[in-house]
Amino acid sequence: MQRISSKAWGQSPDGPATLYTLTNSKGNSLSLSDYGGIITSIKIDGVEMVIGYDQLEDYLAPNPYYGALIGRYGNRIAGGKFSIGEEDYTLAANNGPNSLHGGVKGFDKYVWKAAPSSGDNRASVTLSHVSPDGDEGFPGRLDVSCKYEWTDDDELRLTYTATTDKTTIVNLTNHTYFNISGGGNVRSQLLQLDADQYTPVDETLIPLGTLAPVAGTPFDFTKAKPIGQDIAADHPQIALASGYDHNWAINGYNGKLREFATLRDPASGRQLSCYTTEPGVQVFTANFKPGLFSGRDHTPLPVQGAICLETQHFPDSPNQEAFTTPLLKPGGTYRTTTVYRFE
Ligand code: GAL
Repeated sequence: MQRISSKAWGQSPDGPATLYTLTNSKGNSLSLSDYGGIITSIKIDGVEMVIGYDQLEDYLAPNPYYGALIGRYGNRIAGGKFSIGEEDYTLAANNGPNSLHGGVKGFDKYVWKAAPSSGDNRASVTLSHVSPDGDEGFPGRLDVSCKYEWTDDDELRLTYTATTDKTTIVNLTNHTYFNISGGGNVRSQLLQLDADQYTPVDETLIPLGTLAPVAGTPFDFTKAKPIGQDIAADHPQIALASGYDHNWAINGYNGKLREFATLRDPASGRQLSCYTTEPGVQVFTANFKPGLFSGRDHTPLPVQGAICLETQHFPDSPNQEAFTTPLLKPGGTYRTTTVYRFE
């Protein structure tokens, strides 16, 4: 039987926030807030696995979406523009010329309704939210939920659902910054990705529309290799992002849950195995300048001090016909699952 504890977590601009901590039979814990669906902490054997803060106030200052639930549209939409049928939509350009991660006030800045539940070998908190028609420029009322399950096997299972009353676009993800060493940078951690192709981008990180083979490039993680091995390679795509900030096309996508990545810390032997029903994953190695952002206890976040594995539709998919469509129609249900398991 798992324990769920909750505590008042202070006042957000969207109302009072609560922090939930789910502790499994091994004593390993997941903490998340109803504010932005933020995963603030995952502790395995007492070691912190994610970048984040303990206080709500720290999340109200600018930070790069630490642990947050991203929507309506995770990643970029070129020029903040897309069309559905004859209808053109314009979103705020909050990342250079593009729309990023749902706009100025995305799902990461709302207090969601929370329903905790505890079972035999798992506990969960289901967050739900109603985004009104026209919210951040997106059409249709969206009824959206995300269930966060934490199991006795140290598995975090995220299940997203959404329905709409008008044809719209949806691409939900979670922006956790993992560091399974518990500190330092992630360059010596070994990453393996089940992806033979990735989507090269322009200088604003919008896909060029092609799928390029990873073979023979720094993007080849088909066999496990240290994240840092080619992260500074002389390659135009690496130069654009000062490291990795790209979408990989997961092999054999068919909408079913499949393993797409393993991350291993050779020093501790710890491993993170990742599964998703989604076609793509944005691998972002937190290529921030030193000191730009802080971590827990206001210590500076080192360059490449974490890795995000953001499962998703490919970036700019509303404008790129070759990519799987993020369209959701009335009567249909958006349902995706992503699993992160610590071993
Ligand atoms: C990532 C994105 C990066 C950066 C980051 C947040 O998902 O690909 O370019 O914007 O979010 O700082």
